[in-house]
Amino acid sequence: MISIKSDREIEIMREAGHINYLAHEEIKKHLKPGVRLNELDRIAHDFIIKRGGFPSCLGYEGYPKSICISLNDEVVHGIPDARKLKNGDVVSIDFTVRYKGYESDAARTYIIGSATKEVEDLVKNTEEALKIGLSKVKSGAKIGDVSHAIEVYAHEHGLSVVEDLVGHGIGTNMHEDPDVPNFGEEHTGVTLKTGMTLAIEPMLNLGSKDVCLTDKDDWVIVTEDGYPSAHFEHTVLVTEDGYEILTGE
Ligand code: MF3
Ligand code: CO
Ligand code: CO
Repeated sequence: MISIKSDREIEIMREAGHINYLAHEEIKKHLKPGVRLNELDRIAHDFIIKRGGFPSCLGYEGYPKSICISLNDEVVHGIPDARKLKNGDVVSIDFTVRYKGYESDAARTYIIGSATKEVEDLVKNTEEALKIGLSKVKSGAKIGDVSHAIEVYAHEHGLSVVEDLVGHGIGTNMHEDPDVPNFGEEHTGVTLKTGMTLAIEPMLNLGSKDVCLTDKDDWVIVTEDGYPSAHFEHTVLVTEDGYEILTGE
């Protein structure tokens, strides 16, 4: 079932999204070589709680931390621990904020210091792929229009698309219908309607699209070939003539 949010629900989701945005901005200030991943987790946790939200990754199906931090070949669901950031790291930060019963979900990828041109391009083009996907969102469009645009953009820029993980509807639950894949055919799939809220989240790889779980835990997804991956995500509202980003400025 795909829920259509009322004006009251949308207003709460804007607030949830705003706390998510502010928490990302706060974390960004601390992204420097030497900082430990679990310090970033603590900073995000405290910030979100202080703003009246809850970092709802914490305890979600047993997830042990408040945010996901995925380094280099880690694609998603990286678990913050005592590792320190260092120059050249590709770091993806992804988390949800629950506020008055509603969820927001956003992810960004950063490079610490500098990296090779191809890694810089991986990150830039993944952010751009999200924008291209968003540009297809409006009432009457199909999910496949969004998926296809992301896939085409990724391939044009020499990147592969992770297929094992997809975007999703969002609302009172972190993950709701419909799925929002980052690959597919135009004019196919669910028709978007005003009042739907979606988390759109391309995960693009520099090497092959294949990903797998590590043998250390049941969470961290890595690229099979060890090449880096990038991830950008926004929670958006579908409108009559486009979309509104709920996790933006
Ligand atoms: N934020 C992730 C998503 O984009 C979900 C994280 S679930 C967690 O769908 F348990 F790992 F936090
Ligand atoms: Co997310
Ligand atoms: Co998501």
